Amino acid sequence: MQTTDKILVIGANGQIGTVLTQTLQHKYGTEQVIATDLATKPQNASGIFETLDVLDATRLGEIIRQYNVRCVYHLAAILSATGEQHPQWAWSVNMGGLFNVLEAAREHRLQVFFPSSIASFGPHASRENTPQYSPLEPTTVYGISKVAGELWCQYYYLRYGVDARSLRYPGIISYQSLPGGGTTDYAVDIFHKAVKGEPFTCFLRPDTRLPMMYINDAIRATLMLMEAPKQQIRIRTSYNLAGMSFTPAELTAEIQKHCPDFEVQYQPDFRQTIADSWPQSLDDTDARQDWGWQPQYDLASMTADMLANLKA
Ligand code: NAD
Ligand code: SER
Repeated sequence: MQTTDKILVIGANGQIGTVLTQTLQHKYGTEQVIATDLATKPQNASGIFETLDVLDATRLGEIIRQYNVRCVYHLAAILSATGEQHPQWAWSVNMGGLFNVLEAAREHRLQVFFPSSIASFGPHASRENTPQYSPLEPTTVYGISKVAGELWCQYYYLRYGVDARSLRYPGIISYQSLPGGGTTDYAVDIFHKAVKGEPFTCFLRPDTRLPMMYINDAIRATLMLMEAPKQQIRIRTSYNLAGMSFTPAELTAEIQKHCPDFEVQYQPDFRQTIADSWPQSLDDTDARQDWGWQPQYDLASMTADMLANLKA
């Protein structure tokens, strides 16, 4: 990327988009970043914002031409739990949006970031240290859309030379905004209750181990991937990415080191079935070898930082 190249963020008001937009503005300049979302108002106070439904290919093309966009971070999606409640809608948003982005990338020679997920794996993948190349048989519409999306990114790279890059994010934990309808949302919601001094009811069993990552690591990994020289990107589907893994019981115990009176009850719901089909930890050797990935946050440092920021 040249410093004059414009960057488009689609789904900029979401959990990841809010922080990614700020980071890109800080790194490349506020005026270089075009934040867009379905909403009519931006989440971030500063910078350029446009309302965009990614399913509207005409409007997407207008924005790309108007700002001379060179790079797109396509974050708009329906997440796992919401997707199970509205499967056809989730499929049409997740696949329709990606197709519009990939077609625009082909036409305008754009670099693309597409976030995939641990949801790409299903019950036939080994659940511990899940390898990069595992059976991909997800049982959620969200997971199916992520596997299909990974393969379409690779197809556009191989067939048209589109520089599409992707990460299989773990559950993301952040304090800047609330999560948007996923199965890992409990690991954010729990902190909000803890700082308010209220009890928390968890929708997963206490022993449900899932891969997770602090937002600082997630944003750093995203920029590392996007800035890596082309020849270092050997995987054009999506890279496994790991930070930490923990259960609700372990997270509760860590929070209780800071908030000793904090109480958690467990009432598993339909999201338990989703979590049980996902890996407990990921092998991200390829990301480490190809572009130098190394997480910086573990359960203890993430918890301390979350509580400090939410209290502030
Ligand atoms: P989110 O739900 O918080 O944000 C998504 C944003 O997209 C919202 O602001 C929403 O208004 C917007 N959006 C929805 N439909 C749209 C449309 N048709 N056009 C334009 N904008 C639309 O999601 P997030 O947690 O920020 O996730 C961002 C991406 O990262 C998604 O693709 C998600 O699948 C992926 N991901 C997230 C996590 C996580 O734990 N947060 C983990 C793995 C992968
Ligand atoms: N955090 C996401 C979800 O739970 C995983 O991609 O849906």
